[in-house]
Amino acid sequence: MDYKKYISEKAAAEGLSAEEIYSSVALPPDPAMGDYALPCFRFAKALRKSPVAIAQDIAANFSADGVIEKAEAVNGYVNFTVNKGALAREVLKEVLSAGESYGSSREGEGKTVCIDYSSVNIAKPFHIGHLSTTAIGSALYKIFSFLGYRAVGINHLGDYGTQFGKLICAYKHWGDREEVEKGGIHAVNDLYVRFNSEATEDMEREAREYFRLIESGDKEANALFDWFKELTLKYVKGIYKKLNVTFDSYAGERFYTDKMQPVIDELRQKGLLKESEGAQIVDLEPYGMPPCLILRSDGASLYATRDLAAAIYRKNTYDFYKCLYVVAYQQNLHFRQVFKVLELMGREWAKDLVHVAYGMVSLEDGAMSTRKGKVVWLEDVINRCVEKAYGIISEKNPELENKREVAEKVGVGAVIFGALYNSKIKDIVFSYDKVLSFEGETSVYVQYTCARANSVLEKGGIPSAYSVPELLPQEAEVVKALAAFPQAVKDAAEKYEPSVVARYAVDLAQKFNKFYFDCKILSAEGDRKDFRLALTAAALTALKNALGLLGIGVPDKM
Ligand code: ARG
Repeated sequence: MDYKKYISEKAAAEGLSAEEIYSSVALPPDPAMGDYALPCFRFAKALRKSPVAIAQDIAANFSADGVIEKAEAVNGYVNFTVNKGALAREVLKEVLSAGESYGSSREGEGKTVCIDYSSVNIAKPFHIGHLSTTAIGSALYKIFSFLGYRAVGINHLGDYGTQFGKLICAYKHWGDREEVEKGGIHAVNDLYVRFNSEATEDMEREAREYFRLIESGDKEANALFDWFKELTLKYVKGIYKKLNVTFDSYAGERFYTDKMQPVIDELRQKGLLKESEGAQIVDLEPYGMPPCLILRSDGASLYATRDLAAAIYRKNTYDFYKCLYVVAYQQNLHFRQVFKVLELMGREWAKDLVHVAYGMVSLEDGAMSTRKGKVVWLEDVINRCVEKAYGIISEKNPELENKREVAEKVGVGAVIFGALYNSKIKDIVFSYDKVLSFEGETSVYVQYTCARANSVLEKGGIPSAYSVPELLPQEAEVVKALAAFPQAVKDAAEKYEPSVVARYAVDLAQKFNKFYFDCKILSAEGDRKDFRLALTAAALTALKNALGLLGIGVPDKM
């Protein structure tokens, strides 16, 4: 039930509409004050009364009922107290009947959200820097789908550029088919690294020629290029599988090769293209930005040119309501430029393009030695986390069956959660000990709470019927947290911020644990026991749903 709506409709009065009240109702900082608070300061001017008097009037005219049991005026605020018994009845029924779909909605029906994330570069390492875009983008994909949107996951592959000429050249000189086949992306990357440190001028020239051959459709050059691409994709898809990440399209930069010319023509025709030192640019000085480079002086297109073509293609193909780009904040300027150019081209939907920027991930000092120089491969981070999880689990619960499977869920979950728990724009320092702590604000903590709830339910069963008694504060807190889940999912989508769901999960887990330790569940009497079991089942459902939206699985036992 939407309490804010209920309160605002009931509190509406002469000169004060339900809508105005609705947008002001907030959660009080301390639950002892009430469940909702209405600050009246904003209304003083229009009503020509002091906030204190307004609050008193609203409270005095608000008749308590079975939904809101108390409305109290305190220093210009009205504090509302929800009838917890009624709330519990309603919420438990809803959670237990909805199950896996609790928290979902149909608000996005008929709308498409394109999400460009992970976007790996062919033949280059898939490294720790790709963790955030992958985890955030995938969580947004799941969150929007849960809200009824059609989500389109796009991996805008970095598969265009002179580096592929270099790669082919390196392979021709030093490569061996079998070795590359066996070594996969690592072997490919080694060739590229070697080229960059050892290539002679002749080889550089050759590389440019190979790039030209790819561009002009040469069979052999393209076959090699496709092979490198295939090896990279096979490798990253293995990692995506581990991380529960999926895509609907792998249309990368190359895909736009033949889609750039119309964009360039349109820019020229609209008088937006200018020559500058032989290059073609769009001047963005009036908007306080450096020019957007469209064609280099040798006629080659740029990253921005392909993004312009891609945005137009996506609009034509998917008719999106929003198109999100989950890309590091280092590319802030790039996206501001691209969005602005589209706006100047008269694409009114440019306002629906959103750069979902995030901060950097680094590893705690000395946390691991890297396989290749400075780059830390994401795969190594995942494997190491799973290994550590295995060690911890074996120590904590040596009897546990399928430890490997559990360690996989715990380790992978820790990597994802580590990238999602903080507000996305913050730089984060990844620490194995921190993300794997059973006591911290971690996925492990939430998963362990689920295992605890599961074990209670295994012993006590899920009651088919229960009645709601007078609630203790610990029980009421769990009920309130359960009721807050749908809103948390909505907020996460609205702010493009999966951390809202991650924090929700930790908060609910903490409240459930307080309830678990303070209140006996299995040894409670009759009705109370049934209610507590139902509450436990509902908490487990919401926790699983929350972690599921982040791509994190929940083991039954830990
Ligand atoms: N491959 C790019 C990189 O690694 C990210 C691409 C992001 N998506 C886009 N449409 N530009 O920096």
